[in-house]
Amino acid sequence: MKRYFGRKVITAIFISGRGSNMRNLIDFSITKKSPININLVFSNNKNAGGLKYAKEKKINTICLDNKKFQILENKLLKILKEKKIKLICLAGFMKILSSNFIKKYDGKIINIHPSLLPKYKGLNTHQRVMDNKEKYTGCTVHYVNSRLDSGKIIIQKKIKIQKNDTAVKIAKKVLMEEHKIYPKAILKIFS
Ligand code: GRF
Repeated sequence: MKRYFGRKVITAIFISGRGSNMRNLIDFSITKKSPININLVFSNNKNAGGLKYAKEKKINTICLDNKKFQILENKLLKILKEKKIKLICLAGFMKILSSNFIKKYDGKIINIHPSLLPKYKGLNTHQRVMDNKEKYTGCTVHYVNSRLDSGKIIIQKKIKIQKNDTAVKIAKKVLMEEHKIYPKAILKIFS
């Protein structure tokens, strides 16, 4: 992906909940080395915890809660165009974007997932990892394509599972690594 004459890339983050990755990306975006600027936080859930932080940081927030996701997507695409968004970072965004939406932002949507993809796509990853007695788990930042959690991998971090680990403990450890690799992935795609 290219920057325009070295300018920071106009970026949106999509969230549905807590927003710790969003918060981390916002903090990263104001560092000198960051190639991105966060211009918009979108949520499909008006109660998403992350919205408060984004507002405190004076970032535009938009919340569209619509059962008919098609309508929501069309409204959203219009807003993204108006705001000249060039990169979309999904961070705990729980809606599946349509292939029409993804086509419009082809190669410009990235996501963070709490497993070593292609293993453990979808939800409830940590419990499934524990149930299967895996030796390792981790997290992945990848491009988004029209198949769930299946786009090209940008970066991954592997973590060894310890004997006394539980799904809850693993979730915490993985989240800490997520916060390290998401900014690294962004640096990588613009390097
Ligand atoms: C993270 O584990 C992320 O990998 C997954 O959803 C969770 C979101 O957490 N896609 P947060 O909202 O960023 O704290």
